[in-house]
Amino acid sequence: MKRALIIDDDKNILTTLQICLEDMGMETLTAGTGGKGLEIFNRIKPDIVLLDIKLPDLDGLKILEKIIGSGIKTCVVIITAHATIDTAVKAIKMGAFDYLPKPFTPAQITHLVKMITRVRSLESEVETLKDKLKGIVREGDFITRNRNMRNILKTARQVADSNAGVLISGESGTGKGVLAGLIHAWSPRNEGPFITVDCAALQENLLESDLFGHIKGAFTGAIRDKTGKLELTDGGTLFLDEVSEMCSAIQAKFLHFLQHREFEKLGDTKKILVDVRIITATNKDLEELVRDNLFRQDLFFRLNVIELYMPPLRERPEDILLIAKHYLNKFSRDNDKAINGITDKAIQALQSYSWPGNIRELINVIERGTILSQHNMLTREELPPHILNYKLGKSSAGEMQTLAKAEKTHIKEALLQTASIEEAARVLGIDPATLWRKRKKYQLD
Ligand SMILES: Nc1ncnc2c1ncn2[C@@H]1O[C@H](COP(=O)(O)OP(=O)(O)OP(=O)(O)O)[C@@H](O)[C@H]1O
Ligand SMILES: [Mg+2]
Repeated sequence: MKRALIIDDDKNILTTLQICLEDMGMETLTAGTGGKGLEIFNRIKPDIVLLDIKLPDLDGLKILEKIIGSGIKTCVVIITAHATIDTAVKAIKMGAFDYLPKPFTPAQITHLVKMITRVRSLESEVETLKDKLKGIVREGDFITRNRNMRNILKTARQVADSNAGVLISGESGTGKGVLAGLIHAWSPRNEGPFITVDCAALQENLLESDLFGHIKGAFTGAIRDKTGKLELTDGGTLFLDEVSEMCSAIQAKFLHFLQHREFEKLGDTKKILVDVRIITATNKDLEELVRDNLFRQDLFFRLNVIELYMPPLRERPEDILLIAKHYLNKFSRDNDKAINGITDKAIQALQSYSWPGNIRELINVIERGTILSQHNMLTREELPPHILNYKLGKSSAGEMQTLAKAEKTHIKEALLQTASIEEAARVLGIDPATLWRKRKKYQLD
């Protein structure tokens, strides 16, 4: 717990409480009016709010209602004189954590903050357990509940220990770069550097010198010695992105490095020995390039000891909403907004779209929506037109499925994307009992 906000018009109380909370290591802001208090609340999203019931401008209960309605996770403690105990009870019913009768002692405050800390830590434990129950895995910013993805993460964790070449394939924006970073972080090399070389970003000779380095005068423009990324990565992991773009000369040189673990700088004859783990990524079908003689087979085998394929987002629809909400929270925080949900119609639009740019595209859409949003929910209006107008490709009569099959698929999807039968029923617009029967009928339970 880090931040506290005190809203009270009594200067003495503000000062006493502030000193007390700051002594406990909390960054503490104060406000003398309700209006100012709400403004600060939305800006800093504090962990604790100490709120006086009697304020010069707004009624404390009104402020409490706004704080609870904002959906921001916080613990509100009402500060009250004995005369307003009834109001305090009302406040607790509305969602306040506790009340503090005036006059109070510093010991009472310390005890209260300790209790809140304990509750918050239990809450976060519950969140983690809930995630587990729903099959959600979080690794830093990487989040998924798709079974395939979970298996990929499991394999990635297992191979992290070794030095085996890992080739991560998948469409653009599926998270290949993040996975490479995770493998490094899980590996015994995690104290060493993680360096990326984008093979598509550099021209042939520049890529060669970027990788292997050069000595002064090695080619026109080589005005001083340069250390290559391979040498800089010694003891760590080198991530070769878009490896299919490597030309054949560099492929040969790189294969030599993989076989002998040593290389020479451009223009030099001195051998440099390094200990580097290689992870590569491609959004092209590398095997096909091998068949077409555009990529060396021997190099392919070396790089592809373990292949990890990142499925596109459209093949893991249960991740769309999960990831969207994750970034909605993040951007909402970053932009000082209090958006805490997505309307059903917006959810429907997000889920019907095919996401050719995968997670990167989804993140952009959510960021744009957060910036445009004027409410505490992300609505359809804040989604770009191409997503709203997206229609799934029309199928011919022969390819069409029966109504029952479509219903089953749709229900299965709704159950996957939601946390409970009640929520799924709400999304589907039917009552939970009907959904329960249909779930049985289609054997989805
Ligand atoms: N499962 C996930 N949960 C949350 N964020 C993710 C997830 N997967 C990817 N991202 C985010 O999506 C963005 C794209 O990921 P990344 O750059 O790793 O994709 P990529 O496959 O390497 O794409 P490209 O081929 O275009 O380089 C990044 O901002 C990354 O943090
Ligand atoms: Mg990438």
